[in-house]
Amino acid sequence: MEQIKAVFNGKFDSLKNIQISPFSRAYTFSDSVYEVVPFYNSKPIAYDNHIKRLQSSSNALSMKINLNVISNEIEKLISLCESKSGYVYYQVTRGQDLIRSHMHSNDIELETFGYVLPHFFETKFLKIMICEDLRWGRCDIKSTSLLGNVLSMNQAKEKGCDEIIMHNDNILTEAGASNLFFVKDGYICTPSLSNNILPGITRQILIDALEEIDIKVHEKDFTLEDLKAASSAWLTSSTKGIAPIEEIINLDCNLNLNDESYMIAKKIFDSKFFS
Ligand code: PDD
Repeated sequence: MEQIKAVFNGKFDSLKNIQISPFSRAYTFSDSVYEVVPFYNSKPIAYDNHIKRLQSSSNALSMKINLNVISNEIEKLISLCESKSGYVYYQVTRGQDLIRSHMHSNDIELETFGYVLPHFFETKFLKIMICEDLRWGRCDIKSTSLLGNVLSMNQAKEKGCDEIIMHNDNILTEAGASNLFFVKDGYICTPSLSNNILPGITRQILIDALEEIDIKVHEKDFTLEDLKAASSAWLTSSTKGIAPIEEIINLDCNLNLNDESYMIAKKIFDSKFFS
């Protein structure tokens, strides 16, 4: 805590000195959006895409953000990090109410908060639990309302798992904090974008990188049966990069960590993500 660099409402300080009011709507209602911006060699990865998504999440909540100020703060946090590789967590909250009320007044001031942490992008083999998607109808907004993810991921943790894969009525959505890809009949597949999943930036980096070498990723609705028939599967996120799945504890499937399509995807992904 002592060493972690942070910024709250424009003021840089160590994380331990930052204090937040209990009437912050982040605290009472999760009335806030966030981004996780990875960096490597002290340079942010897919920065413009993260900033754009923060803008669209803020628009969805009718919060007017100042992108220039936020960009400067994120860049400064990266420069303050003791490591050249890591990520910035950045959150925008509607602000503080005088008294808790679902309907906020229009003149409260946004609160912004960010911190930076060292992070090493190592390939980790994942153990997964399948579960029902318990979340709300706007998972495309990167909001801090993550209770559905938190509940299911902690049930998975109790079973020794690292992540979950969720489904809505048998239709695959995404993982608890990452997007899903798998290979079926030699095709690379991923659930298509909708209100039910976050438009992952790492997901898009991989799709674009594969397209550049003429490999089309199939984006549509996929079912648990499709995943059962997969020869390999992996998750993508800003902090995991591309992480292969070695086992799904409650689905009868046979995943090969040396699958050719996965190897190609990993190689092309690493060349883009860490360029
Ligand atoms: N999570 N889906 C969900 C539900 C996520 O929380 C995330 C990222 C992703 C992947 O998005 P991206 O590739 O843009 O990181 C998909 C971040 C890392 C987090 O909450 O810590």
